[in-house]
Order: sequence, then C-alpha cells, then structure tokens
Amino acid sequence: NTTYMSDYKPSDYVLATTELDVVFAPDEMDIKARLDFSLREGVAPGTPLKLDGEHMDLVAVAIDGRALDEDEYEVTEKHLIVKKPPEEFTLSTIVRVKPEANKALEGLYRSSGVWCTQCEAEGFRRITYSYDRPDVMSVYTVRMEADKAQAPVLLSNGNPVESGELEGNRHFAVWHDPHPKPSYLFAMVAGDLAHIEDSFTTMSGKNVDLAIYVEHGKESQCDWAMDSLKRSMKWDEERFGCEYDLDVFNIVAVSDFNLGAMENKGLNIFNDSCILADPQTATDDDYEKVEAIIAHEYFHNWTGNRITCRDWFQLCLKEGLTVFRDEEFTSDERSRAVKRIVDARDLRAYQYAEDSGPLAHPPRPNQFKEINNFYTATVYVKGAAIVRMIQTYLGKDMFRKGMDIYLERHDGDAAIIEDFVKCFEDASGKDLSHLQKWYTVAGRPEVNVTHSYDGENKRLTINLEQVNKPTPGDEHKDPKFIPIRFGLVSDNGEDLSWDSVTGATVEDDLMILDQAKQTVVFEGVSSKPTLSLFRDFSAPVSVVSDLTMADKLNLARLDKDPFNRWDSLQNVALDILVPAAKLNGEDPTAEDLSALAEAFRSILTDNALDEAFKALALSLPTQNVLAEHIGQDVDPERIYNVRRTALSAIAAKIEPELAQTYKSLVEEGDYSPDARSAGRRALKNQCLSLLLAADEDKGGQVAVAQYHAATNVTDRRAALATLAASNHTNAPELLQHFRDNYCDSVLVFDKWLSLNAIIPDDAALDRVKSLMNDEKFNIENPNRVRSLIGGFAANQVQFGRKDGESFQFVADLIADIDTRTPQLAARLLTLFRSFKNYESIRREAAKSALESLQKSPKLSPDCSDILERTLAG
Ligand code: ARG
Ligand code: ZN
Repeated sequence: NTTYMSDYKPSDYVLATTELDVVFAPDEMDIKARLDFSLREGVAPGTPLKLDGEHMDLVAVAIDGRALDEDEYEVTEKHLIVKKPPEEFTLSTIVRVKPEANKALEGLYRSSGVWCTQCEAEGFRRITYSYDRPDVMSVYTVRMEADKAQAPVLLSNGNPVESGELEGNRHFAVWHDPHPKPSYLFAMVAGDLAHIEDSFTTMSGKNVDLAIYVEHGKESQCDWAMDSLKRSMKWDEERFGCEYDLDVFNIVAVSDFNLGAMENKGLNIFNDSCILADPQTATDDDYEKVEAIIAHEYFHNWTGNRITCRDWFQLCLKEGLTVFRDEEFTSDERSRAVKRIVDARDLRAYQYAEDSGPLAHPPRPNQFKEINNFYTATVYVKGAAIVRMIQTYLGKDMFRKGMDIYLERHDGDAAIIEDFVKCFEDASGKDLSHLQKWYTVAGRPEVNVTHSYDGENKRLTINLEQVNKPTPGDEHKDPKFIPIRFGLVSDNGEDLSWDSVTGATVEDDLMILDQAKQTVVFEGVSSKPTLSLFRDFSAPVSVVSDLTMADKLNLARLDKDPFNRWDSLQNVALDILVPAAKLNGEDPTAEDLSALAEAFRSILTDNALDEAFKALALSLPTQNVLAEHIGQDVDPERIYNVRRTALSAIAAKIEPELAQTYKSLVEEGDYSPDARSAGRRALKNQCLSLLLAADEDKGGQVAVAQYHAATNVTDRRAALATLAASNHTNAPELLQHFRDNYCDSVLVFDKWLSLNAIIPDDAALDRVKSLMNDEKFNIENPNRVRSLIGGFAANQVQFGRKDGESFQFVADLIADIDTRTPQLAARLLTLFRSFKNYESIRREAAKSALESLQKSPKLSPDCSDILERTLAG
C-alpha cells in the first residue's frame, strides 16, 4: 500500500477542538477523547467519518453524549468509521492502550518509568482515534491525572491552566494550547523527573518560563542545553524576527528515543544523548550537537509548528528549512568556515551515498510506503542545501525578505513547497521555478569542467557540462539550475577581475549553470588564473575538472575561500587514493605522497589558519568516502590498507612538525566547550592520530600518556579512538580501564561500545556479539544498539568480512529488533544500502543475508519497504 501525493484531498470533516482526559497507569490505561467535528463545505452530508487508530482497544464511542449502536460504526485494524454522522457533532471515545508493552517508541510508551509520547509522523493514532494527518489542526486541552509518587510531573503542550490534589495521593494538571496544531505535535510526559529552570524575555518584553526535565541526579548536566536554548531564542528574534508565543517552554530528556529529538509545541522531547553535557561525559562534538539540536527543535516553533506541512510529502518544507536555520545558527555562534566544511563533508558522506544507491529519492518524494523511512539525509540536509541555494541566488537581504513574507503569509497554514518558493519569487520578482525543481528530482548532477587560458588575448574559456544520471524510477532528468560561486585566483592568491563575460549569467562571484552545456568566456583576465569553482560549496553537485594536481595544491595554499582550500586538498588526496584503492589498483607513488605531505606541512605551519580548520584539512577522506568514489567492485580491505599506508607515509614525513604542534596544544586548566578551545583539542587529537600513524611505538606512548593525563572525555576518548582504530596493542588494556573507571554514565558506555566495535581485528565480530551480554547493554534501547552496530559498520573491513558472517549477524539482529522497534530496525537496515558496490564475493554474501531477512515471518512495513528497495534498486 503506497501513498501518492497526487491523491491528496482535504479531510471530509473539520476538527476544531481536541479534549483529552488521561489517567496514567503502567500496564493498561484508558484515554478519553472529545473531538468537535463539522462537515467540510462541499462534502455530502452523511459522508462516513473515517478516523485513524491502531494498537488500541475501543471501549466506548458516543456522539453528542449518546452511545453508538453497533451498526452505526465499524472498527478495523487501522480505523474507526462512523457510518452516518450528523453535520456537526462531538465524538467521544474511550480507548485502552498499553504503554509498558509498547517497545516501538511511537505513540505513548514508558522510558525508565516515565510515560512519554512520540507522535511524528503517525504515532498519535496509537493514542486515540482521530485524523492523524498534518493538515488537520485543532485546539487541544488535556487533563492528566496520576499517582503523585509515580508521576509528580505532568506536562503537555501549551500553557498550564489548572492543577490540584486528588484523593488517594493522586493529583491532576490541565494544559491548554491556544495554537491549533496537527496531531503529530501533540505530547504528554508524566513521571518522576528533576528539572532546572530559567527564564527568557522576548523582544516584545514577554516573560517565558523555561525548564528542562531529566532523571534525578542529572540536573547538573543540563546547563549547556539551557544556555543553548536561550541563545537560540535570541538568535531567532534577531536573524528572522521570530518570537516565542507561549508562557512556558519545556524540554524533557528521555533515555529511549528513536531519533534525536521532537519539536512538540511548547514541550520538546529529546533523546537524552542530545541534552546531557558535562566535561566528563560529553565530547566537544557532543556539546556542539546538543547546541545544534536544541536550536533545531526550537526553530521548528515557527518553521514546522506555526507553519506546518500539508502532507508528509512536504516534510522537507519544515526539515530542510529548519536544518538551514540551525546551520546558520551554528555558523553565527562558532566558525562559519568550519561549519560549512563539516556540513559539506557530511552531506557528501551520507546524502551522496543515499543518492547514488537504491534508496535515492527526491527531497520531496511523490510516493511512499512508510513515511518514517523518509527522515533521511536527502530530506534534511539536501533540503537545507536547496534553501541555501535560494539564499545564494537572491542574496541574504532578499532571502530575509522572502522569509518575512513566508512567516506572515502562511502563519497558521499547512503549506506546500510551492507556497514557500513563491514567497521568494514575490520578494525578489525573480522566477525560481528552476530552483524549485531541486525538490522533485533525486540524484545529483555531475559537473564536468574544462578550461583554457589564451594569454595573448587575455581570454579565459570555461566549458561546463552537467550530467544528470538516472535514479531508480526516474530515467530522464532535465538540466538543473546550479549556482556556482567562483573566483579566478592569481599566483599570489588575489582574485582576478575581468572586463566582460559571455555564455552564462555572471554577477560578481556568482555564475549560473542552467543548460546541459555552456561555454563561458571571460575577456580581459590579466594573467593565467587558477579556477576556483563552487566556493562555499554553493551547490550539492559532484565536480570533475581538468585542474591539475598542481592547480589543486595551489588552491589549497592560496584560495581565499576556506571551503575550497579544504576541498582542493581533499581532492588531491582522492585523486591519489581512489585509483590505488580500487581492486587490483597500484599503490600510490612516493612522489604523490610527498606532495600530499608537503601540503599537510604547509597547513600545519600556517599561522594564519585556525586550529579547527587545520584539524579538518589534515584528515584523509574516510574509508566510506573512498568506497563511494570507487563506486563498484569495492574491496574494503584494499581501501583500508591503501589509506593506512598512505597515512603512515605522510605522517612520517611531517613527524617533527606534528610533535611540535601536539606539544604546543597540550593545555592545562579548566575545560571549556567554546569553539576555539574545541578547535585546539581537535587539532591536538588529529596530530595524535597522525603521530601514531607515523610511528606505532612512539605515537602509542603519547596516546597512552594522553589517556591517563586527560581531564575530560574528549581527550580521553580521542586517545582511545586513535589506538582502537589502528588496532594498537595497548588498545584492549586501556579499553578495559575505561570500562572499569568511566562508564557509570550509559552515554559514556555508548562511546566505549563504539570504540570496541571499531577495532579492525579479526575478533571484531565475536567481540560485538559478546558486548551484547554486557550488563549495561540493552537491545531495546536505540542508543545502545546504534552505538554498537553503528561503530561496527564503520569498521569497514570487519563488517565487510568476506565470509559474510558479519552481514548475517547484523541481518539476524535486525530481524529480532524489528519484532519490537521497527523504526530502529529499518534504520539499521540502511547500512546495507550500498551493498551492490562490493566486489562479487561480498556482494553475494550481503545479498544472501538480506534475502534471509526477507524470509523472516513478520517483517514490519518499515523494514520491508527498505528491504524491497535495497534489493530491487
Ligand atoms: N521532527 C523531528 C526533528 O527533525 C524528527 C522526528 C521524526 N520522528 C520519527 N519517528 N520519524 O527534529
Ligand atoms: Zn526537524
């Protein structure tokens, strides 16, 4: 059963209000609902009312207070149908649900004794019968009642309006949310939680009470999240004029959660791994992640909640835009250049892999079987990249004007992508239909570039061609509208100017490629330039250019655009490593490796560069990225060996500089998570891993010393990670030490799990199996499972064992998890998305593991959807 966007039709009845009455109990509890419906204009009177609801028992159903006779309604596995309702009526239902038994972590469930909810995308239908679709918005009032000891805290959306004591040591609370909202933004939390509180004064002077709720004893780990929240609220006012609109804003951290967090109106619910942060349990990356996710969920209040989506095909309307906004927030709070590099690197690593394989889909798909499988890199980060292209094309001020129109015109709406784009057209008077196409097409253009310079006539000619390869179900693609930020770099690093240009629209540093082929001619270029294209990663495309290695090294040294400095060096590394890492490839030449080493050296010793940038620039492309570039007949062992050998050779050549830099960055004093300090630690730890690659003994000693001297988990973990990733002899002993001394917090235990799984030795699979017996491991918890299996999958050689044992193990594990937590199982299954790229032995082994999974008796719709597409593609 596939859902198609073209089948969209508004609901037959309009839902004005939703009133819930909930009495909390562990195993079984009743939920009373009162829903006020009226027939939509133009719909025939007497049309049946068909509501969503599943995994629950209907106890009672009445219309306007009169219990319905059995022949007046029908209950199916997924619906409640009232056959002939009046034109205006109140529907009352009582349903029975089982929160304790709910391991899907959708709907109402219990996490460490706390009742909580997750409704996006279609979880509300596990709580009560209603229209569970984003375009049906109603005003909610929720009465919650519980035992005072079991659940002293009772939270829902909106503002608190009433609360009180009841007999028998019970109490109640009533919440009212004045903003009409779709069911997916509904939330409730009941439990015994501690909290920290603060307040924020909005730009119009309104006070908002802020609180973060966590397990008792973890209050001290919430300060960073609170600080991030206040900075997010301020930033959204300043950058986009978005002011908060309720009296309270609550955040709850729970330990069992399928994804990162959820933007429920006024009551965000988070995976606790995205809230908790202190120097002993959270790394610098964790601090940055907490800050970004807090911002992301908060920003949804306008882009997602005030303006929501008409249907789930428009998911990218809220997610792409909100990711763009959180990227901008991080850029303003930290280093813009570094953030851009990290985002581009991650987009290429994850979104490109998705787009090149069987799971490729447009940012706005037009059909789906299971919407949960579309919370993807394509929808989120490619969605954000499209919004960024709109900003690049229009300029920041015009972009803001378009956003103002959007926020004003569509406030309260369930909108579609076209509505969004139209606001920028209206603001700028420009036609954006070409940019809009990015939303509806899968795959990415490959841009081929050749160029020549005619010194006599001072003429630069650039030939651009875009190739749009077919993706599953989409054979022919039109050329895309591709904004190219560029510069013509002179030998001393200045950007050269020109007198005139033909063949493309060029304005300042922006050139538009919108045809399949274009020849762009610049007249009056005074000397031979080095071409710097796609500065700032101005479009999510793949580029194949005729730049020589010398050109690329030049850009790595000179380009004023930091992104292209980083990218050019990565390209040099790819040019050297990709051919070598192919099946039967030839080892890189000593000369090539020396050139890379020299480039590393000049970055390392350039005093003008900041440390975070250096840390990024001194990394070789990951194994996964190399595999993606190799594309077919991938042999992970070959890739591992080529990469490792190259890294050792390069590091050995610059060892003195590495040692010197390392020493200069060893710091004493208190840990601070700020961007500059984090950048210094990142560079120090990157030097450490290179020192180890240069000399196992000497580097190993430094790593062991750092482990023991570390005052924070960032440095401690980094030392371990370096030893683990290179299968160093000291790794097992130190890992045991870490397990014995630092793993009280399960979030730290999660890091330990990943580190164990990543050691590329032959015992890896057995180790992973035995880790599942650790007393702290819990297969029902997504964080535990993802840390262990995610870490193992990053261990390319051992996950990709030729005998297929690892594939089979993971497939069996997925089958087991799928019986309880389908969303988690389906996510793990995407680890196989590139299996067809393996050389034949591994390909067959992976295929047979997937086929065995296909035979498991009751696969969830989530898993069968991914599995079918993976095997078909
Ligand atoms: N809207 C959430 C976010 O982007 C993601 C929640 C999705 N949950 C799900 N089960 N599909 O922050
Ligand atoms: Zn989001």
